Amino acid sequence: MILEKEEYPARNVKQAMRVREADSMIQSIFSIEVELVVQAIFLRYGYNFRDYSRASVKRRIAARLKKEGLDNMAALQHKILHQPDFFEEIIDDFSINVTEMFRDPEFYLLMREKVFPVLQQRKSLKVWHAGCGSGEEVYSLAIFFYENGMCDNTQFYGTDINNRSLEKAKAGEISIKNLRNYNANYQAAGGNSSLVDYFTLTATMARLNDNIRKNLFFTEHNLVHDQVFGEMDLILCRNVLIYFNEKLQRRVLRLLQKSLRPGGYICLGMKESLYFSPDRDNFEVVDGRVNIFRLKGKVEKDSGHG
Ligand SMILES: C[S@@+](CC[C@H](N)C(=O)[O-])C[C@H]1O[C@@H](n2cnc3c(N)ncnc32)[C@H](O)[C@@H]1O
Repeated sequence: MILEKEEYPARNVKQAMRVREADSMIQSIFSIEVELVVQAIFLRYGYNFRDYSRASVKRRIAARLKKEGLDNMAALQHKILHQPDFFEEIIDDFSINVTEMFRDPEFYLLMREKVFPVLQQRKSLKVWHAGCGSGEEVYSLAIFFYENGMCDNTQFYGTDINNRSLEKAKAGEISIKNLRNYNANYQAAGGNSSLVDYFTLTATMARLNDNIRKNLFFTEHNLVHDQVFGEMDLILCRNVLIYFNEKLQRRVLRLLQKSLRPGGYICLGMKESLYFSPDRDNFEVVDGRVNIFRLKGKVEKDSGHG
C-alpha cells in the first residue's frame, strides 16, 4: 500500500504509541517477575529483601541476568532456588558490599573533634557497626580509637548479612593494592602516622595488627528482622539505609535507637538521614553534614559499663 504524504505523521504516531505500550508492558511484567524472585528467595532462604529499594533490586537482577547470559527470569529463579552457592552471589548483588577504609574522611575528622572527647571520659565502650561489610570501616575507627587511647577499653562489634564479607572482616586483611588510597584517606581524616604502621605486610595482603584486632568481633545480624544489639555508646550504620524503603528505614532506625545508651551516638552515611525515624526528636544533631546524632537523655554519672 502506498501512503499519501499527509498520512505519514499519523502512522508514525500510532507506531510510536504501540512501541511505548509494548515497552511499558515489558516493564510491568519485569516488575512482577522481580517480586516473584524476591518472594522465592524469602520462602527458600529466609532472606527478606521485600523492603529494599525496588529500583536497586531491579538493577541488580537485570545485571545478573545479563552476566549469566540468561534470557528469562524463570531460569534465574530456578538457579537461585536449586543452587545455594549461586544464591550467595545473589546476596552479594543485593547487599552492595562497596566499602573502603576512612570512607568520607571528613566524617572521621568530625568524629575525632566532636565525639571522641566525650567518649574518652567513659571507662569502657561498646561500638556497633551495623552493616559493616568486609570490615574496613571497623578497622578505620579502631585505628583512631587506638591513636586516642580508647582502643583497649572498647569492644567493636561488626555485623552484616553477608557471610562472605564477614569472613573477610574476621581475617583483618586488606589487599595491598588498596593501601595507598586508604593511606590518603587516613591522612585526610587527620591520621598522624602512616597507615602501614598498623598492618603486617605479606606479598599481596596487609593484615591488621593484633593489638587492634583483638577487640573486634564480627557476627551475622540482619537489620530486617533481628533484635536489639546490646547497650551501645556508638553505632555506625553508614551507607546501608540508602538501599531500604521508607518502611524498613523506620524499623531499622528504631532498632538502632533501642540499641543505644542514653547519650549514645548514631552515625549515618552522607546521603542518609533520620528523616524517616518516628523518634527523630529524641536526637540532637551533633553534625548535620556528616550525619552524627546523639540520643538525648540522662547519661549515667560514671558512664562506664564495668
Ligand atoms: C554499601 S555497604 C556499606 C559498608 C560500610 N558501612 C561502609 O559505609 O563502607 C552496605 C552493607 O550493608 C549490608 N546490609 C545490607 N542489608 C543488610 C541487612 N538487612 N542487615 C545487615 N546488613 C545489611 C551489606 O551486606 C553491605 O555490607
